[in-house]
Amino acid sequence: MKMIKILALSALIATGAMSDDTLVLNMGQMENGLSNVQKGFLYNAPALIKSGVADIHKANALFHDMDATKKYLPKEKQHMSNIAFNASKRIDSASADLLKALDKKEYTKAHQSYSDIINACGSCHAVVRGW
Ligand code: HEC
Repeated sequence: MKMIKILALSALIATGAMSDDTLVLNMGQMENGLSNVQKGFLYNAPALIKSGVADIHKANALFHDMDATKKYLPKEKQHMSNIAFNASKRIDSASADLLKALDKKEYTKAHQSYSDIINACGSCHAVVRGW
């Protein structure tokens, strides 16, 4: 019985540590993607903007539904998972708008969507961090 408890406990700790690693890894990808989008705008390099958006999109898939999003929030913030989930959806829709504008060479409009992405990152972080 004791052994089973220990096993169950270590499994719990292991999965906890794993989702933390996944989150940190994904946020690193988000940050890297966002930096490339910024560089792409600064250096007028549309290909870099596009690859940055693709990186953000890939990392943002971690929050593919409300339950998945909830899992990555601190326990005491999980009741606000709808705000976090909406922020993640806003990143996807702003990314789609950005790419559409870019294809039409509407750079000012594309840059506006880039700001929308940053604001959405901030909305989730505000929940998580109690800003
Ligand atoms: C659905 C919620 C959510 C969204 C959306 C989100 N993040 Fe995060 N982010 C988190 C959580 C949770 C943490 C970990 C807790 C903390 O750092 O306060 C985090 C932490 C981070 C960190 C610090 C990681 C570390 O190693 O300390 C970076 C960098 C980051 N996010 C970048 C971004 C960027 C860039 C975006 C937007 C493109 C973004 N995040 C969007 C939830 C989110």
